[in-house]
Amino acid sequence: MRYVFGLMVLTALALPALAQQVTDSVAPEAEIGQPAAFEALGAEAQAALEAKAAGRPVEAQEWMVAAANPLAVEAGAEVLAAGGSAADAMVAVQAVLGLVEPQSSGLGGGAFLVWYDAESGSVTTLDGRETAPLAATPRLFQDESGEPLGFFDAVVGGLSVGTPGTPRLMEEAHRRWGQANWGGLFDRAIALAEEGFAVSPRLAGLVADDADRLQRFPATASYFFPDGAAIAEGDTLTNPDYAEVLRLIAEGGSGAFYSGPVAEDIVATVRSAEGNPGVLSTTDLALYQVKERPAVCVDYRAHEVCGMGPPSSGALTVGQILGMLDHHDLAALGPQSPEAWRLIGDASRLAFADRGRYMADSDFVPVPVEGLVAAPYLKQRSELLSGDDALPEVSPGTPEYDHAFLWADDESLELPSTSHISIVDAAGNALSMTTTIENGFGSRLFVRGFLLNNELTDFSFRSHADGLPIANRVAPGKRPRSSMAPTIVLKDGAPVLVTGSPGGSRIIGYVAQSVIAVLDWGMDVQQAVAMPHLVNRFGTYDVEEGTTAAELAGPLEEMGFEVNARGLTSGLHAISLGDGLSGGADPRREGIALGQ
Ligand code: GLY
Repeated sequence: MRYVFGLMVLTALALPALAQQVTDSVAPEAEIGQPAAFEALGAEAQAALEAKAAGRPVEAQEWMVAAANPLAVEAGAEVLAAGGSAADAMVAVQAVLGLVEPQSSGLGGGAFLVWYDAESGSVTTLDGRETAPLAATPRLFQDESGEPLGFFDAVVGGLSVGTPGTPRLMEEAHRRWGQANWGGLFDRAIALAEEGFAVSPRLAGLVADDADRLQRFPATASYFFPDGAAIAEGDTLTNPDYAEVLRLIAEGGSGAFYSGPVAEDIVATVRSAEGNPGVLSTTDLALYQVKERPAVCVDYRAHEVCGMGPPSSGALTVGQILGMLDHHDLAALGPQSPEAWRLIGDASRLAFADRGRYMADSDFVPVPVEGLVAAPYLKQRSELLSGDDALPEVSPGTPEYDHAFLWADDESLELPSTSHISIVDAAGNALSMTTTIENGFGSRLFVRGFLLNNELTDFSFRSHADGLPIANRVAPGKRPRSSMAPTIVLKDGAPVLVTGSPGGSRIIGYVAQSVIAVLDWGMDVQQAVAMPHLVNRFGTYDVEEGTTAAELAGPLEEMGFEVNARGLTSGLHAISLGDGLSGGADPRREGIALGQ
């Protein structure tokens, strides 16, 4: 099937001089031999891949969708072209992502969603985060002597699996904002699962890289290693079990996932995982709830940057970074200035210090949400940036709060993973959703055609340090702290940028950088998502190897930073709104933006 996008125009824009310096270094996937697996895509998706390879945004007037796989984006575009809302399109995109990008997100995972409602002008955030089973204890990831387990010893198997949230979040978003028939939103994913889809280069490469862990459990091995050999780029892969689960959800709603045979199979898979069984129960699934949370919004350059509060640290930490930087003129410095990156890097380190001390699931521990992003507090923290050199050390501040607390610092590890979806519909609603099963391929447990998350390893493995409790320790029914930062930026109450990324705790740096690139450095969205990365969380400055960012390593070292050149695989998908819509897809991944 082909779609008609009468008004879609792919426009080559002249690059502003500042942006030119930093946008020519990240090789688009298309340039490194990708498209054989995407030959069957429609003409518009092909054109979008070409635009990305050429460094151009996709332009449109009515609606836009950007996500990590062209087949998923086509599914969302089909819904939007038929008059569906951004919530409808998200359901179609997520259903296909769970099939074609199973390593990153799916029915077995969780997500956070930020929604701008065009009619009311309000921003709503929904928490579909995985939840610790009722039988979990603070010592879930500790051995008999209370020492933390090795990371992958905890990840692989049933112990790390939290109650999934994504199916109920899809349903809740559709219940609030959907216009299309629920059941029909799964048609495209069901057809692809039954008729087969071409394995993408990224999926094939990641399966090969993770061969040992993926072959530990028979159901996982037989899907990703049919006849003993890893699925390869361009192979046609079918997934009838996934199609059957989608059909059950399409007909019966998310209840068909959270109780009955699907729930029973999930629980049996978790509890019988050989060598590392978990404690999830059918009661945990039956009790799962999506939670509406207050949006966290921070002023930056006369805009409001809004996102997801606890249990995510995303909006608070992005907001702290930007709130500190609002007192410094990054536009005058420009994206190639070591001084700009000194300010960004140390603002980030200060924000990560607060994150490690204070941020966790606020239903379980007191979190000083307002104090952490209060303007006077961020001004005071920004004064720490007044020198010329890297801060020798950083420590958490003391945000205002009406509750006594004494916490030890968290040390949870989050490795890159996850996926991001940005959508604007014809009515002007905007959706920003970051969705995950945590580590690439999650727990590696595969049931009924989808992978189960390992989200519980986003908790701190240690429950205490130096006699003090850690805010992000495990507790029954608690949600692990996240770094996911689905973001909508508003100007005078109207959205101007929808952005977000995967990448573990580096998500925070990627998202903050995309906002700075657009608001301070005047980049278009494609330039903003493609520009080389520099990320500092805990002291070491990660600079993206093989790009112009690496040229900043010397000057940053002279300022006192320890620098590490490495790959920084963000997956930013962003849409800017102004005179029309402009979509950008991260060249480090396989996604595209499509619009009309
Ligand atoms: N598991 C990735 C995150 O929630 O930040």
